Parts: sequence; C-alpha cells; structure tokens
Amino acid sequence: MRRSLSLLTLLCAPGLLGAADFKRDIAPIFKSKCYSCHSEAAGKEKNGYVFDNLKRLAGDIRPSGMIDPGRPGESPLMELLTLPEGDKRHMPPKGSLSAKEIKAMREWIAEGALLEKQASAKPSGLAPSVKVAAVEAWTSLEGKVISAAFEKLEGGVVVLRMNGKPYRVPLDKLSEASRKQAAERAAAAKKP
Ligand code: HEC
Repeated sequence: MRRSLSLLTLLCAPGLLGAADFKRDIAPIFKSKCYSCHSEAAGKEKNGYVFDNLKRLAGDIRPSGMIDPGRPGESPLMELLTLPEGDKRHMPPKGSLSAKEIKAMREWIAEGALLEKQASAKPSGLAPSVKVAAVEAWTSLEGKVISAAFEKLEGGVVVLRMNGKPYRVPLDKLSEASRKQAAERAAAAKKP
C-alpha cells in the first residue's frame, strides 16, 4: 500500500523529467563532503554509514530508510543536510552543501534515488536466458514521468520495479501510451 502510494506521489510530483544521475551529480557530492568520515576508502564509517560502497548505500535506500526513494520530504538524509548549521545532527558537521547540491540531492531522491544510469539495466554477467527488464519511462495521466522496469501486469495493476523494489500502479493512473507500453511488455513477457 505504502509503496504504491509513494510511486503515485512520485508520478504526481512536479517537474520530474529524469534529471539527476547518481554518478554525475550525486557521487561527487558524497565524495567531496562526506567521504572523509563515511567511506571505506578513508576507513571511516561514522554511525555505520558509508557512501563509497554502492551495495551498502543501496541498503539505506528503501521506504523508511535514510533515503526513501521518491520521497525526499520523508528522507532523514534530507533533514540532516538542511538542518541549521548549529544543529548537532547537521551533516556535514562543519559547513554545508551548497543550495545547488541540496537541490540535486532532493531531485535525485524524488526521481527514485537510482544508483545506476537509468538506461543501463544490462543483462551482462547473467545467464543469457535470464531476461532483465529495461528501465524505461512511464507517464502518468497528468504527464509526469518516472523511470522503472516493467515486471508484470496483474489485472488492472501494473507492477513496476524501481531500485529492486516492486511498486503497484493502477493502469488507469497511467497515460494512454504507458498503458499500451504495459500491455506490450506483458505480451512480450509471455513469449518463450
Ligand atoms: C567530519 C566528519 C563527518 C563528515 C564530513 C560527515 N559526517 Fe555524517 N556523521 C559524522 C558523525 C560523527 C556521525 C554520528 C553523529 C551522531 O551520532 O551524533 C555522523 C552521522 C551521519 C548519519 C547518521 C545520522 C543518524 O541519525 O543516524 C548520516 C546519514 C550521515 N552522517 C550522513 C552524512 C552525509 C550525507 C555527509 C556529507 C554531506 C556527512 N555525513 C558528512 C561525521 C561526519
């Protein structure tokens, strides 16, 4: 329930045309402002958080996690970054992210906090018989766009996968084109 709600929130959020890219926009912020205390490279893991091991970072990206994908307002990380500088919990402890960096972080979370380039759901390394659905754009009735991989169609609900988690979206919330896309992906999935 919560998951489908968060995806709907995302679909309805303003101005979301896939802007932020983790490698290009977000990793450099973590590197310059956080790695000194939160990276395996520096051997510092304050409170257990490291940002240079993507597998571990991925564990913090989940509903109710430090980074709640699609919900920057609910993500404790955004709170830590935007607290007044004097606050004990403000991160980093000294100085602040620039307004531009905070905006990039917020957009990245709003767009689902993807760690991989959106088009790079490559099947490499997997057995050739394993089909990996590509991450693609889905549009809501209001014209908002999110990036997710098709998983399956269940009656009137399409199940999309974002960051390894399933999200259920009623078909009637999607644009005509995205409904058609869902039907095509479902038909393709049935083929041997
Ligand atoms: C100078 C060292 C230092 C830097 C730089 C730093 N942190 Fe921290 N961070 C800490 C310490 C120390 C704690 C533990 C604070 C505490 O428990 O009061 C912490 C805790 C955290 C936590 C856990 C907070 C919680 O409530 O559990 C997060 C998340 C975090 N930092 C994120 C960041 C991010 C993101 C950056 C970069 C923007 C950053 N930190 C930069 C030292 C640092």
